[in-house]
Amino acid sequence: MFAVTATRIDTDDPLAGLTLGEHPDPSPPDGWEVVTVKAASLNHHDVWTLRGVGISADRLPIVLGCDAAGIDGAGREVVVHTVIGDPAAGGGDETLDPARSLLSERYDGTFAERVMVPSRNLLPKPAALSFDEAACLPTAYLTAYKMLFGRSGLEPGSTVLVQGAGGGVATALILLGRAGGYRVWATSRSEAKREQALELGAERAFPAGSRLPERVDAVMETVGEATWAHSLRALRPGGRIVTCGATSGPTPPAELNRVFFLQLSVVGSTMGTRDQLDRLLRFCEQTGARPRIDRTLPLTQAADGFAAMISGDLFGKVVFTV
Ligand SMILES: NC(=O)c1ccc[n+]([C@@H]2O[C@H](COP(=O)([O-])OP(=O)(O)OC[C@H]3O[C@@H](n4cnc5c(N)ncnc54)[C@H](OP(=O)(O)O)[C@@H]3O)[C@@H](O)[C@H]2O)c1
Repeated sequence: MFAVTATRIDTDDPLAGLTLGEHPDPSPPDGWEVVTVKAASLNHHDVWTLRGVGISADRLPIVLGCDAAGIDGAGREVVVHTVIGDPAAGGGDETLDPARSLLSERYDGTFAERVMVPSRNLLPKPAALSFDEAACLPTAYLTAYKMLFGRSGLEPGSTVLVQGAGGGVATALILLGRAGGYRVWATSRSEAKREQALELGAERAFPAGSRLPERVDAVMETVGEATWAHSLRALRPGGRIVTCGATSGPTPPAELNRVFFLQLSVVGSTMGTRDQLDRLLRFCEQTGARPRIDRTLPLTQAADGFAAMISGDLFGKVVFTV
């Protein structure tokens, strides 16, 4: 089958290890199913893999891609939950299973004509969502959903700052946060992206690092080093940073004096459970919220999507159709 694989790791030039071509068809063990992929979406995770973050060279070649929507063996339209883990091993939450992985880490991912997954990882695709829209949800949108409605500790009406407005997770945070009743503020380095953030539902949009008119209840962080100091300063006493990523680097100064004196919380968040993905699908159905798609490309042109993500030239998700 045709697939997009990581064939070698290159920290500085991730595209050097991106290979398009033939790959063996999946042969599913008992309890797994093969899905014919209709649409898949790109995440920064795929770039990290090519850079060798979170994977070792002995796992290559591996098919990239965490997210997909497609057709299962019985002809049903499905969305793929990408977290491969045992809820029992994580106290009822597969994201806390110490042995959990995402598709494309241990098992081949979704940038292919077919992908195999455990049967429990298939959810019915709501008719209201297209394959392209559904393929955006399992990583970026599920992560944003759990950050906003699980890990933030907030109630609707609270003010949330989203750093780095243009990213896949960041656009999801703006969209879902607004639909869930938060007052959403966003930052971006780019004026064009700030305007797009307002169109997406942010109430205000600010240049990266600028002083805010008032302090916020929580900051949603995916950027890391470049925005961390601003995130700490943006919070009201007792406020909370929810972090799921560190695109610009993972080790900013901790500024512990600010953390303890203002009694701030720093909370990590990763992905979400199958049940949360199920609720996210229903949330989209009920609120009318739909993923923001920057561009849709045939899988054969995947390299163009990767290049756009590496250059930061995106507002929303890149979808690959198969
Ligand atoms: N833990 C999890 O479960 C999980 C799940 C999904 C993603 N993540 C992580 O979250 C991060 C975002 O993922 P994504 O797929 O949304 O990536 P993405 O689409 O590539 O996000 C890029 C955004 O980050 C901002 N940014 C990048 N470098 C910056 C810099 N030097 N200074 C300021 N802003 C910068 C940019 O905002 P502006 O251009 O608007 O300023 C850009 O729009 C990644 O690190 C990813 O690995 C983690």
